[in-house]
Amino acid sequence: MWFNWLKIASSSSPSFWMPVQASTVAENIDSLFYFIYYLCLIFFIGIIGAMVYFVFKYRKVSESQTTIDIKGSHTLEVMWSLIPGLLLLVMFAWGFRDWLNMSIPPSNTMDIRVTGQKWNWSYQYVREGLQTSELVVPAGRPVKLIMSSKDVLHSFYIPAFRIKRDVLPNRYTVAWFQSNQPGEHYVTCTEYCGTAHSTMASKVRVVSDEEYKAWVDSGGGAGGEGLSSVDFGKQLFEQKGCNACHSIDGSMKVGPSFKGLAGKSEALADGSSVQVDDNYLRDSMNEPNKHVVKGFPPVMPSFKGQLNDKQIDALIDYIKSLGQ
Ligand code: CUA
Repeated sequence: MWFNWLKIASSSSPSFWMPVQASTVAENIDSLFYFIYYLCLIFFIGIIGAMVYFVFKYRKVSESQTTIDIKGSHTLEVMWSLIPGLLLLVMFAWGFRDWLNMSIPPSNTMDIRVTGQKWNWSYQYVREGLQTSELVVPAGRPVKLIMSSKDVLHSFYIPAFRIKRDVLPNRYTVAWFQSNQPGEHYVTCTEYCGTAHSTMASKVRVVSDEEYKAWVDSGGGAGGEGLSSVDFGKQLFEQKGCNACHSIDGSMKVGPSFKGLAGKSEALADGSSVQVDDNYLRDSMNEPNKHVVKGFPPVMPSFKGQLNDKQIDALIDYIKSLGQ
């Protein structure tokens, strides 16, 4: 890129304006950003500078002074239309080229389905047959994200990759990236989607090929190997985003706290009450609107198909471990 002589645009550490450049498109995006930024700076200083200078230079010094009769200048008018016009076309052509690059995924991508829901992201690895709540990708390979939402509008954003795309219900949107260096970067939801919007902040992990293979073989870390059922449940509680709405210390969040929940008699919105046992907890994950607890909005999404029996058991054991 001819603009790279400025060097500021191509760096592996974050700058004042931008996070690290961790994808193949990041450098181009930043170059364009800095081009527009410095252009604006030059014009701002030039125009405001001239204005301030003229205000002093040509100020009225005596009562008898009259304004000189100035006629238009065609040369000047053509210049101040043509030069900014050409610069705008440069911005357009440059931006359009990068936009096409970002919009059209290469043909050899690895595909991951991304589902946004209140309030977490889940990932389905198309080839690998994995369902995870953590985004892990191998370095040096193009990855295509096919995204949709279960409920409201979310927006998938990885600042370090310079990709951002709205995630809508009943529709698919696509984004792609390739990250060549292993590392960890932020993933956020950048469209306000309700109370726990901020808890959709998570991580993407770029790993080496070997590490990726090991991760896939372990079932995407969702198998709980080597963990007790309670510890596995605790891990799922965080990974699956339960913690967005349920506290474990008795404090109020969007949903009932898990502290002391097991064994309790819970008053329901329909006036009846229910004893919190294993079956009730299982039902609440699969069909959350079957028994809505009094005083809470019916907003929990169903985790049916997202949790296997072992995971449901682990979550139940974890909730029981939080006291009767
Ligand atoms: Cu999802 Cu904000």
